[in-house]
Amino acid sequence: MAKINALVVGSGGREHALAWSLAKSSSVDSVYIAPGNAGTELEKNIQNVPIDPMNFEALSDFALRNNCDLTIIGPEAPLVKGIVNHFEKYELPCFGPSMQAAQLEGSKVFSKEFMYRHNIPTGRSMTFSQLTPALEHIQSIEPPVVIKADGLAAGKGVIIAETEIEATSALQAMLSGNMFGDAGHRVIVEEFLEGEEASFIVIVDGEKILPLATSQDHKRVGDNDLGPNTGGMGAYSPAPIVDENIHNRVVKEIILPTVRGMRAEGNYYRGFLYAGLMIDKNGNPRVIEYNCRLGDPETQPILMRLKSDLAEICLAALDGSLDNISAKWDSRHSVGVVIASKGYPGKYKTGIPISGINTISGNDIKIFHAGTIFENGNVVSSGGRVLCVTSLGESIAASQERCYAGINKISFEGGTFRNDIGWRALER
Ligand code: AMP
Ligand code: GLY
Repeated sequence: MAKINALVVGSGGREHALAWSLAKSSSVDSVYIAPGNAGTELEKNIQNVPIDPMNFEALSDFALRNNCDLTIIGPEAPLVKGIVNHFEKYELPCFGPSMQAAQLEGSKVFSKEFMYRHNIPTGRSMTFSQLTPALEHIQSIEPPVVIKADGLAAGKGVIIAETEIEATSALQAMLSGNMFGDAGHRVIVEEFLEGEEASFIVIVDGEKILPLATSQDHKRVGDNDLGPNTGGMGAYSPAPIVDENIHNRVVKEIILPTVRGMRAEGNYYRGFLYAGLMIDKNGNPRVIEYNCRLGDPETQPILMRLKSDLAEICLAALDGSLDNISAKWDSRHSVGVVIASKGYPGKYKTGIPISGINTISGNDIKIFHAGTIFENGNVVSSGGRVLCVTSLGESIAASQERCYAGINKISFEGGTFRNDIGWRALER
């Protein structure tokens, strides 16, 4: 097979891991990333390209000029805005769902109605765009209750209200205020689901699926799952909560009905499909949300375990032949610990120098960068989540230990991280 060139769109830890995985592929010649970060710039086999992920015209132009026969979109915003539709106009192979299919993440109202239509297990909810009926509704139910902005809100659009007062102020801020702009002018009020969360991510070719290794994220900023929600402070794979029985149920009751339902409605789903699950104490999985992309930081430990060729898998999915392909996984456990800027997920400073990364080496540890850039030859922070130290080990404990030993060698003033990534698996 002739070698191809590949382009990754995005600049986070997930995209660094995608580009790193593609660079290992024997079917890939050049790997480009737009715009990438300092970590991808440091990789010998990856080239950063200074194009914004929302600049579709410049991206397709680059892909055409550089013969990119595979483009993988990392973040949700360009997918929801239709980057795949745009690339299709130029007959450029772009891995991800179309704008229509990406509504599963782009609109929580769309995804809820879709799940109800197809009997996919999820929490009960109601949709509101007017404040008065929304307030009347919360007076008629018991807290806690979950209030969700309909549209994309950079991972911040979900408020778990413990009291009626909190629910009232969240509804006011979204529906009569402008807390999330247009994204919050329609909201979902959803029942609070009890249980343990897991991330279930599959590759879809429109019809058939290939499940990736299971994983679990840590959304809260602090140890013991305390403090505000973040984009994710660490993840590990595999997630023992998803045993064979639950795995089979998720595929049968959630993933396949989702893919078939989208198809039946004329929205072929192709790309990564991520079901955020709540698994109750009896092992019943329910969907909390869909994402139309890989998770960040789940991708980092998942791809660390992937032994198959990522480019081949994505190309097979693009031409509808996923049934001819399987994925091999390293049987070891992988843990990824995020180092964030002090203050994240609230306000934080950028431009803080980071050193010590190059003292960490070996095949069983990898530092994926997120919010980093080069400034005068030094790596400095440029975002909230800055690095994800990811490792492999014979057990979760061994992998965890390796991560924290690596973190000890990194010097980054104010860098904060959780000390307990993987605790649920360890507790089992
Ligand atoms: P989302 O942005 O939909 O992933 O929600 C962010 C986080 O809020 C989830 O990962 C859960 O921890 C929590 N969450 C969302 N919906 C619910 C729910 N119905 N019940 C309990 N927790 C929820
Ligand atoms: N880590 C959660 C997400 O990517 O949505």
